[in-house]
Amino acid sequence: MQKRILVTGGAGFIGSEFVREGVRRGYSLIVVDKLTYAGDIERLKEVSGRYRFYKVDICYKRKIKEIFKQEKPQVVVHFAAQTHVDRSICNAQPFVNTNIQGTQVLLDVAKECAIERFVHISSDEVYGEIKEGRFSEDSPLAPNNPYSATKASADLFIKAYIRTYNFPAIIVRASNNYGPWQHPEKFIPVLIYNALKGRRVPVYGEGINRREWLYVSDCVRAIYLIMEKGILGEIYNISSGIEKSNIELAHFVLQILGKGRSLIQFVKDRPGHDIRYALDWSKISKLGWKPEMDFERGLNKTVKWYKDHIDWLQSRIASSKRAR
Ligand SMILES: NC(=O)c1ccc[n+]([C@@H]2O[C@H](COP(=O)([O-])OP(=O)(O)OC[C@H]3O[C@@H](n4cnc5c(N)ncnc54)[C@H](O)[C@@H]3O)[C@@H](O)[C@H]2O)c1
Repeated sequence: MQKRILVTGGAGFIGSEFVREGVRRGYSLIVVDKLTYAGDIERLKEVSGRYRFYKVDICYKRKIKEIFKQEKPQVVVHFAAQTHVDRSICNAQPFVNTNIQGTQVLLDVAKECAIERFVHISSDEVYGEIKEGRFSEDSPLAPNNPYSATKASADLFIKAYIRTYNFPAIIVRASNNYGPWQHPEKFIPVLIYNALKGRRVPVYGEGINRREWLYVSDCVRAIYLIMEKGILGEIYNISSGIEKSNIELAHFVLQILGKGRSLIQFVKDRPGHDIRYALDWSKISKLGWKPEMDFERGLNKTVKWYKDHIDWLQSRIASSKRAR
């Protein structure tokens, strides 16, 4: 019998890839998602009817408890979060509510229900910026924006529950993901959408900020491996080593779409913008994982997907404007 996995944020970008893949792998999946402006059940249409769904806010403890009692999950994989750095700079409150308080609610309920494993999805951003070299799992937390501060706080709660209650958790810290179904407020979909429409393509500052890019299905394969074989109490970095500056990325996308670089518009930099993130992922490689998608193929696939799903992009842009 395959395990029952409760997935929070399963209607989001990475969570939905995890659910689609979990259905393929034969897991029994329970999705809990508030369906904020960033959540969309459409992402799960390919596996419709093959998972159970609860439209619930993770901060709502009574409801979360009821779901755990009803569904008796053995494993929790926790993706649900407010995820857009720019929004956190405008208003940090929803980030504190979901990313810290919501995580703490889940931890308490999972603890009461004697869950076997709790996999918490965190971010490379919790380490802050690094000018040279790479962060290992032992590097100190030094978040620089409200989003990453809330993610780092959640990580500290997880660590505290592991130590205090012997809580069976694992923390996963992933680098920037890209691929199909990402919300059009994020950098790569913004580039593609604007370029497709012949509009100016915004790039922060001088475009020199560097990130590592991980294809979403590679990320999800790593999360399954950690869920199945990772050591409880440990932290695992996941990344690709594919490091690009924002301006390089903009050039790649424009080239794929056959558009000129004149579309690029440098805009006022994000306050506190971290210059570079880079992760050492040798620990998870010892479990037998490595990224499979090379950057050129991944980006071409991604651009094609958005071209074929321009209506979805437009509908997400419209619904997030309404949610503002
Ligand atoms: N996308 C990346 O590049 C990246 C990189 C590293 C880590 N992460 C982490 O991975 C996780 C998933 O990221 P994503 O890009 O898929 O995010 P996303 O914004 O696409 O999806 C988040 C999902 O969580 C749901 N949600 C938000 N608040 C909720 C609440 N209070 N209760 C229930 N559901 C709620 C939303 O409806 C949405 O479906 C996040 O924890 C994020 O911090 C993302």
